[in-house]
This record gives sequence, C-alpha cells and structure tokens, in this order.
Amino acid sequence: MTARVFLNGRWLPPDEARVPVMDRGFLFGDGVYEVIPVYSRRPFRLEQHLQRLQKSLDGIQLANPHRMSEWIGFVTQLAGEAEWEDQSIYIQVTRGPMAVRNHAFPKEVKPTSVILAEPMISPPQSQREQGIAAVSAADIRWLRCDLKTTSLLANCLLRQMAVAAGCVETALFRDGFLTEGSASSIFVVKDGVLLAPIKNHLMLPGITYDVILELAAKHGLPYQVRDITEAETRGADELWMCSSTKEVLPIVMLDGRRVGVDGTAGPVFAKMYAWYQEFKATVMRGA
Ligand code: PDD
Repeated sequence: MTARVFLNGRWLPPDEARVPVMDRGFLFGDGVYEVIPVYSRRPFRLEQHLQRLQKSLDGIQLANPHRMSEWIGFVTQLAGEAEWEDQSIYIQVTRGPMAVRNHAFPKEVKPTSVILAEPMISPPQSQREQGIAAVSAADIRWLRCDLKTTSLLANCLLRQMAVAAGCVETALFRDGFLTEGSASSIFVVKDGVLLAPIKNHLMLPGITYDVILELAAKHGLPYQVRDITEAETRGADELWMCSSTKEVLPIVMLDGRRVGVDGTAGPVFAKMYAWYQEFKATVMRGA
C-alpha cells in the first residue's frame, strides 16, 4: 500500500487510517467502490470511473462527499506520489458510522471516503499467451449488479469456486443467459463477430468493456450487443474476460472443456490485445 492513505479529506499513514467498527460499510457492506488502473502514473479512464462512482452513489441514495474536480485532484496526486509506475487505485465511499446498529439510514449521514493505491498486479504473460481456465455457476447475486457496491459476498463465493477448481474466473449465467464474471466482464467471439452482453441491472457496466467495444468499432471488428445464451457461450470460438486490473484475457477452458476448436487463445483475441496495448500507449503518452 502507499505511504499515505486518503481518509475523509486527510492524508494519513496507513496505520493511522482507521474506520470505526460502527461504520455501515463494515457492518452492512453499505458502500460503493471503484478500482482505477494507473499506467506510468496516469490514471486510465479516470472520468469514466468517477462517473460510474457517481451512478453507484445515486443508486444507493448516498450524496457524493466530494466534487468531481476534488476526486480528480486526490487520485491524480496519489498516482503521482505512489512509489510504483503502474498502480491500481482503490476508492471506497460508505454511508459512514451510526450510533446504534440500525438498517435504516442515519438521520445525519457522515460518509466515509477512502482512497489508496497498490502496485498494479498484471496477469502473467503465460495467461495472456496460453489463456486461462474458468468454471461456470448460476449468478446468485442481487438484481442491482449495475452498482459497484462493496457488498461483494456473492462475488467472493463465486470467485472462490474458480480458485477451488484451480481456475482463474467464474463465468455467470442467469436464467440461461451470460451475465459476466465474478469480477470481470465476459465476451464471446463466434464466426468472427464479437458478442457482448447488454449492459443492464444484471451486470456491472465495465469501463474495460466500453474500451473493448470502442476498439472493435475503431478497427472494424463486427460486434453485437445482445443477450447471449449459455449454449452460445459454451459453443464460442473464443471467450474473453476483461477488467481494469486484468485488461483482456482469453478463457481457453470452461468447466474442463476446451473453448473453440483447440482451446488456445484465438486470433481475434490476439488482435484485440494488440489494439488494447496500442491504445494504452497513446493514453500514456498523453495523446
Ligand atoms: N472488478 N464485473 C464485475 C463484477 C467486476 O467486479 C468488475 C471489475 C468488472 C469489470 O469492470 P471494469 O472493467 O470497470 O474494471 C465487471 C474490479 C476490478 C474489482 O472489483 O477489483
């Protein structure tokens, strides 16, 4: 973690950045968060992450404790002073402490806001080249998966299913349709067309998801945003997972079965990965 942590408007050494046990984030998971990748000390898609933070706050009826310009200043400052070039910046805002444990919101809400930086842990090259294995599970989460809330127990249990099976991610199906991964967005490639699930209340509107669709449009890769059935997912030529920290990775095994004909990272993935790196490089140059 960084030498300084932002807590409620103050920069503190990590040991001194403490939150009371009566904080609703701790007792109820009553809060929202963001994870922002930083490359060469430049936050990637910062405004989009902060806009999503605002949507998550609106979705849980919590007033934003800071203006957009303030958030930009705090995150940029932290990204500039952290000891690593590439980082992952974590923001969390909770509904703050309460006097007695009570599910209903306190009359006077004093939100808790935290920002900290960690070194970016990028997936190993072997995962990008050889792909990763995933399992699948029923999407047991609530019906507001579009909000990036800290109540992540279902996501944690689902992710652990992958870990227990020696895999990296769990692909989720709800009522016969692909939603996303336990901590990632998922794409299908079939017959040269990129298929993306529709952004609705059943999935997080991924920032990386948007980048991938923008890159597809820019480079003329045909894509469709539509409902994707479980059968289509299992019959995919290529399957990808993506997130701010993992960028884009090929899933080559699903539930122990090879994806596509040979279970290797596919040609469309190779193109998208190259486009992604090229795009990142332009952002890092400040272009
Ligand atoms: N998670 N869907 C879920 C459920 C996620 O948790 C994430 C990312 C994504 C991808 O969103 P984005 O492209 O904006 O990172 C999709 C972050 C990285 C996390 O919880 O650590």
